[in-house]
Amino acid sequence: MIKKCLFPVAGYGTRFLPATKSMPKEMLTVVNKPLVQYGVEEALAAGLDEICFVTGRGKRAIIDHFDVSYELEHQIAGSNKEAYLTSVRNLIEQGKFASTRQSEMKGLGHAILTGELLVGNQPFGIILADDLCLNEGPGVISQLAEIYRRTGTSVIAIQEVGEQDVSKFGVIAGDEEEPGLYRVTDMVEKPEPEDAPSNLAIIGRYVLSPEIFDILRETPPGKDGEVQLTDALLTLAKTGKVYAYKFDGKRFDCGSVDGFVEATNHVYENIYLPEQGE
Ligand code: UTP
Repeated sequence: MIKKCLFPVAGYGTRFLPATKSMPKEMLTVVNKPLVQYGVEEALAAGLDEICFVTGRGKRAIIDHFDVSYELEHQIAGSNKEAYLTSVRNLIEQGKFASTRQSEMKGLGHAILTGELLVGNQPFGIILADDLCLNEGPGVISQLAEIYRRTGTSVIAIQEVGEQDVSKFGVIAGDEEEPGLYRVTDMVEKPEPEDAPSNLAIIGRYVLSPEIFDILRETPPGKDGEVQLTDALLTLAKTGKVYAYKFDGKRFDCGSVDGFVEATNHVYENIYLPEQGE
């Protein structure tokens, strides 16, 4: 059983300044819910109900969001405004929440290693909440968890991107063993188009075996002086132990303004308005 889901949420979100100067990027709202709530809903729907946040300074709002707000709830009790809190209240009842802090922003790989304290020695999911993933069927983390259960092998989510966009992602090379499921042979972090091994880009969903922690401990800082998760995954892939899966669903890069606006329009038209009966 995969129960834990790690949310590294310590990053500065510089691409969204000044909005993220004193507010976590993960609390930016897509229509009426913060990004991190979409991610937690995806984890809980997949049965990953132990939610582990790796936070940093200035990120308290995320932890507070998944806690009871006594004053507010007392104030609106019995009024028609209560319904607005139903979605997050349900999550608080379903999930267990824990957090630890990354005291220095040394990269995504370092944030994951910081989360070892909460995850321990078991397979776990990772959701980067600024990648908003939506699917009518099972969510992306659920699709990956299913592959992990079936194969016992770490698995990462990929999508095809245009050649001009490969330099924004980690990119894989691999052998397609089943439709959409690749055994990874190589990975490059943010390559120039001419150096990219494919157009299959890694996005912010992973289900990993705990052996990744030992590898991360030995992984030196890479691109931008940060400990890169991609470098550690490549070490694991070299032993044939990483799959990449072309997931079903849509993904929006909500760490960028364009992706965020696209996500907002999509959610408003396809989720919010239909929920209002319009
Ligand atoms: P990003 O590359 O999106 O970085 O990190 P960022 O700092 O959040 O945003 P920009 O690029 O400055 O605009 C990917 C994920 O890894 C987390 C981030 O919170 C985000 O979810 N992260 C990154 C950490 O938790 N710690 C780090 O040291 C770096």
